[in-house]
Amino acid sequence: MADGAALGKVVLAYSGGLDTSVAIRWLKDQGYDVVALTIDLGEKKDLDAIQERALKIGASAAYVVDGKLPFLRHFVWPSLQAGAVYEREYPLATALGRPLIAAMQVEIARREGATGIAHGCTGKGNDQVRFDVSTAALAPELKVVAPVREWGMNRDDEIEYARRHDIPVPATAESPYSTDENLWGRSIEAGILEDPWAEPPREVFEWTRDPRQCPDEPAYVEVGFKEGLPVSLDGRPQEALEIVTTLNRLGGEHGVGRIDHLENRLIGIKSREVYEAPAAVVLLQAHQALEDITLPKDVARFKDLVAREWAQMVYDGLWFSPLRDALYAFVAETQRHLTGEVRLKLFKGASTVVGRKSPEQLYQLQLATYGKGDTFDQGAAAGFIKLWGMGVRTAAQVQGRLQERDLKSMLGEVKRLAP
Ligand code: ARG
Repeated sequence: MADGAALGKVVLAYSGGLDTSVAIRWLKDQGYDVVALTIDLGEKKDLDAIQERALKIGASAAYVVDGKLPFLRHFVWPSLQAGAVYEREYPLATALGRPLIAAMQVEIARREGATGIAHGCTGKGNDQVRFDVSTAALAPELKVVAPVREWGMNRDDEIEYARRHDIPVPATAESPYSTDENLWGRSIEAGILEDPWAEPPREVFEWTRDPRQCPDEPAYVEVGFKEGLPVSLDGRPQEALEIVTTLNRLGGEHGVGRIDHLENRLIGIKSREVYEAPAAVVLLQAHQALEDITLPKDVARFKDLVAREWAQMVYDGLWFSPLRDALYAFVAETQRHLTGEVRLKLFKGASTVVGRKSPEQLYQLQLATYGKGDTFDQGAAAGFIKLWGMGVRTAAQVQGRLQERDLKSMLGEVKRLAP
C-alpha cells in the first residue's frame, strides 16, 4: 500500500496524544493522505510542538485553530442559558467540544478537498457518536474513519507501534488515567477510578484544591448577567473568556467544582467519571439563582424539562439537529428578562449563592414581607383555597376517607390532659 493517497484525503482531529499520533501513521499506511487539525479549546497545550509533531509523523499538512471564543459563544453559552447538566451532575464539557471540532473538520475538509474526516475515538465511548453524527448532519457526503475502532490494538500495542515507527510517545501515555479538558471542564477516567467504591485519589485532580488545603477565608464573587449571559465579575465588565478563566482559577483555589459521577453512556455502558469544572458549576448555579428570582413559576417549571432534554441531546451527540434549534427558540425567549447580579461564596469545596437581584425580578417585597409595607390581600386566600380544594373535598365526601386506618396507627398512643 502506502503509495501516496490511494484512499483519498482525510482531516484528522489531532490532539497530539498517543492515539491520534499513532493514527496519523496508521492512516498513512492504509493509504490515506492525512491532514491534521488541532483545535485549541483552552487546554494550555504547546500547540506549536503538536503541529510539528503531526508533520514529523507524516501528516501532509497540520492546522492549528483557536476555537476558544466560538466554543464559549456558540456552544457553552446557549447551554448555560438552557441550564444543561447531564444526569444532575455533568456540565457536558467534552460533549459540547466535540460538535465544534467536527464542524471545523468539515470546514477544513472542504478547503482541502478531502473526502473524509478521522478521529481517535474508541468504539466504547460517547465521543465517536458525537463526531460521526455531527459530521453526518453537516456534511453527509464525507466519510468518517475511526482508526481506534478498527485497528484492534490495546494501549501497550500502541506504545509498541509508536516505538517501532519512531513516533514520539507523549508523557501522558505513562498515566493510568484517561483525561480530556477544555474551558468548560476536565474529565478523568480509568485507572483506580474504574472501581466505583474507591475514592478518587488526590493525584487525579489538577484544577481544584483539596478542601483541606483551601484558604480559611471564603471568597465572594458577584456575577453579572445580561439577558441570561454572564457579562461582568464583581461589577467590572468582562469578556466571556476572562469570566470563565477567572472562575476556573478562583473556584479551583477554593476546591469548587469536583464531581464524581456514575454515568450512563449513550451506548449502554455505565462508567465512573470524575470531573473538575469550577467555572461551569459556579456559572450554572448563578444563572439558576437569577432565574429563580426572575422567571414566572410556570415558565421555570417547564424550563426544567427543557434543560434535561437539552442535556440529553448534547450528551447523545445531537448538537446539530432540528431539536436543538427548536429548544433554543424556547430557551432564548426565557432569557429576555434575565439581567441582574448573583453573589456567591466559595469556601472549602462549596459554592453557595448568598444573594441575587434584578431590576426585572418578580420577587416583590411588598408581597413577600411579613413585616411593614405588606400589600398582600390575606382575605383573598380563603376563597381561592376553597376552590383549589374543591376536588379533594368532593372525593372525600362521595368516596370516603381512604386513609382512615393509616391515620389511626400513625397517631399511636396519645396523652390527654384536661383541667
Ligand atoms: N464521559 C464524558 C462524556 O461522555 C467525558 C468523556 C471524555 N472523553 C475522553 N475521550 N476522555 O462526555
